Amino acid sequence: MIRRHVNKSISQLLKKINIMNTKILNVSLNRKVENLSYPIIIGDNILSSSGEILKEFIYKKNVIVIYDSFFSVKTSPNNEFEEFVQSINKLTTTLNFIDIPGGDQTKNINQLNEIIEKVLTNGIDRQNVIIAFGGGVIGDIAGFAASILLRGINYIQVPTTLLSQVDSSVGGKTGINSKIGKNLIGSFHQPQAVLADINILKTLPNREFRAGFAEVVKYGLIKDLEFFNWLNQEYDSIFIYDKIKLQKMITKSCEIKAEIIKNDEKEGGKRALLNLGHTFAHAIESFGNFDGRIIHGEAVSIGICLAFRLSNKLCFCSTDDTKKVINLFQKSKLPTSLHDIKKISISTSGMIQKFKLDKKNRQNELTFILNKRIGESFIKHNVSVNVLTQFLNEEI
Ligand code: GLY
Repeated sequence: MIRRHVNKSISQLLKKINIMNTKILNVSLNRKVENLSYPIIIGDNILSSSGEILKEFIYKKNVIVIYDSFFSVKTSPNNEFEEFVQSINKLTTTLNFIDIPGGDQTKNINQLNEIIEKVLTNGIDRQNVIIAFGGGVIGDIAGFAASILLRGINYIQVPTTLLSQVDSSVGGKTGINSKIGKNLIGSFHQPQAVLADINILKTLPNREFRAGFAEVVKYGLIKDLEFFNWLNQEYDSIFIYDKIKLQKMITKSCEIKAEIIKNDEKEGGKRALLNLGHTFAHAIESFGNFDGRIIHGEAVSIGICLAFRLSNKLCFCSTDDTKKVINLFQKSKLPTSLHDIKKISISTSGMIQKFKLDKKNRQNELTFILNKRIGESFIKHNVSVNVLTQFLNEEI
């Protein structure tokens, strides 16, 4: 299905309903059989117009909203979730709700089963649409449910955290954690659209915002030195929620991600770069039992710093660049080393065992994303267990 008209029609629509200053990006996937593209709409205060904006996907459809139970209670005088619901309610044939708690502990097979049973009990056909309203956990599990219900129904992402707006809602990775490791069960299932409202970030606890910032910095580190420098320079405005800066930052992050996944939807190659820091991060999170002592973006912050220190140790990257990266994370009050998470006990051999489960590995060879400099990541296959053991022994 080629859907090049999407950008134009949505921007015409936004003009018609008087919504200004909204960015629309296209995620265009070059597939062998059929190309696919879908819009990411990034604006301020657009949830109350969700119905009009998403009309082509939800009009006269049976819609199931899977949302973070955080939004069940009033979180602000203008309850964004209520505005969203009122706006889409006018257009759908039926509207059903499933609320689930946010947090990685929720992202498991039992919760998935509960969602699926609820949807099936209500009755479903292939025209139903799921809307995921929440952070990365909600988007991942709701997207996964959409990908397996009736062998795949449509879904839309309405990400409400910085991390999900810049990363997890885009690109179609869906899934849940296994007791063995993070995100080991899942599928690639692209959403029909992503609607990101900057205004809702004000509901986000500061810790979550900082954690999302780690994924933002990742984009600069992977392939855009200028963006990294801009983040350093605009740091203060970003952390006081300057909406213009936030919109620019989220748009740029999504642009970089869309560009990377364009030719590698299923991570056969370059998409793995988006995993900078994640091999370490997933291992750390799994040591933490996903119980909230460390959250994903914090683990990513440590993981990226470890990836830079390893790159430096292996003489791929300068000490100067490594320090600059660690400084930005420290300034953002994010953890930057394994010593910063003393409450979780981590061992070198345990870390190596967890690395062996990483999806990037090839035939038992460990693969890491490392950096030549800020703005240039690369895939390094066959990183030896001896080197990693020595490195981790120095870090732990
Ligand atoms: N979060 C990494 C990816 O979407 O590939």
